[in-house]
Amino acid sequence: MENKKILFFDTKPYDKRFFDQANKLFGFKIEYFNEHLNNNTAMFSKGYDVVCAFVNDDLNKQVLEQLMKNKVALIAMRCAGYNNVDIKFSYGKIHVVRVPGYSPHAVAEHAVALILSLNRKTHKAYYRIRDGNFSINGLIGFDLYGKTAGVIGVGKIGRCLIDILKGFGMRVLVYDIATDDKFAQEKDIKYVSLEELYSQSDVISLHSPLTRETHHMINAKSISLMKDGVMLINTGRGGLVNTQDLIQGLKNNKIGCAGLDVYEEESEYFFEDFSNEVINDDVLARLLVFPNVLVTSHQAFFTKEALASIAHTTLLNITNYFKNEYLENEICYKCEKECLKKQKKRCF
Ligand code: NAI
Repeated sequence: MENKKILFFDTKPYDKRFFDQANKLFGFKIEYFNEHLNNNTAMFSKGYDVVCAFVNDDLNKQVLEQLMKNKVALIAMRCAGYNNVDIKFSYGKIHVVRVPGYSPHAVAEHAVALILSLNRKTHKAYYRIRDGNFSINGLIGFDLYGKTAGVIGVGKIGRCLIDILKGFGMRVLVYDIATDDKFAQEKDIKYVSLEELYSQSDVISLHSPLTRETHHMINAKSISLMKDGVMLINTGRGGLVNTQDLIQGLKNNKIGCAGLDVYEEESEYFFEDFSNEVINDDVLARLLVFPNVLVTSHQAFFTKEALASIAHTTLLNITNYFKNEYLENEICYKCEKECLKKQKKRCF
């Protein structure tokens, strides 16, 4: 594969470190570009066989057209979610691959980190103690044991989270468009309607993909159905939550606290250092001043194991493409229904 050239967009030092290591096995020519892939930068893909993009790159129709014009053969997403790719447009024109399950444990464990920090306020205790303040006033939490957790999206990540929450002794209610009765029985969990999940859960965690159906599923109406003081955790995608409605829910104390690893307008800020600049996004700025909101910068995936797995699988996906092999990790808009994957064939 020495002659194949890959252009990376939105590269960070850790991407380079893990991809350079994994590439020792594959031998691609990799160029790392720091900028996001978007309408302004797609033109730089000229001369490359593959473009490798990440969660906040924008692979809209115009960008895809430019990549095809530049004779890019493959788009390799180094992430699981692909809501930022116009897969309807790409179908039949350019293949897109991704890394569907690099470490569901990493994301589930980060969701739990948010739950535990928000509940027991360890992030606040850390600063208090460093400042010589040993008071525990205001740090009161609640036992997770015996409480009800609602998990939306029972896929790879949702399932890891369920195991951890069951370990705390929580009752777990779940919602997914596809039910798995055997799994429910094995894990002693219950599939319920969204309404029931909202009304009974003390902690709600989102693990479904961002689709037209799930966009803003957490909104004023769904929040009104929730228990007073509910804890909301989002490590899925920002667009699952209507942030203005969430802010309203926090202001009127309907939502007790929120742990957000993703935010619908995150692409400008997340992964970047704005510590010396003014944050012009008033919604994000409002979120950051709530004492009961914990925002992390899309870091749920960020473990050594996950990064090594992302790098290996991405380069393997690219190798399989050029070897003309079946693309297990291909994505297309038909994948959920009539995709040829069932016959172990490429989507088109
Ligand atoms: P998965 O594909 O294994 O599971 C997704 C589950 O959601 C499936 O069971 C599916 O049936 C269900 N689902 C689909 N549409 C639904 C709907 N309308 N309502 C309820 N459930 C629905 O995916 P996985 O690996 O568990 O990842 C889930 C999501 O987590 C990804 O789509 C991605 O957006 C996000 N993610 C976030 C990361 C982070 O660093 N914060 C890292 C990796 C993934």
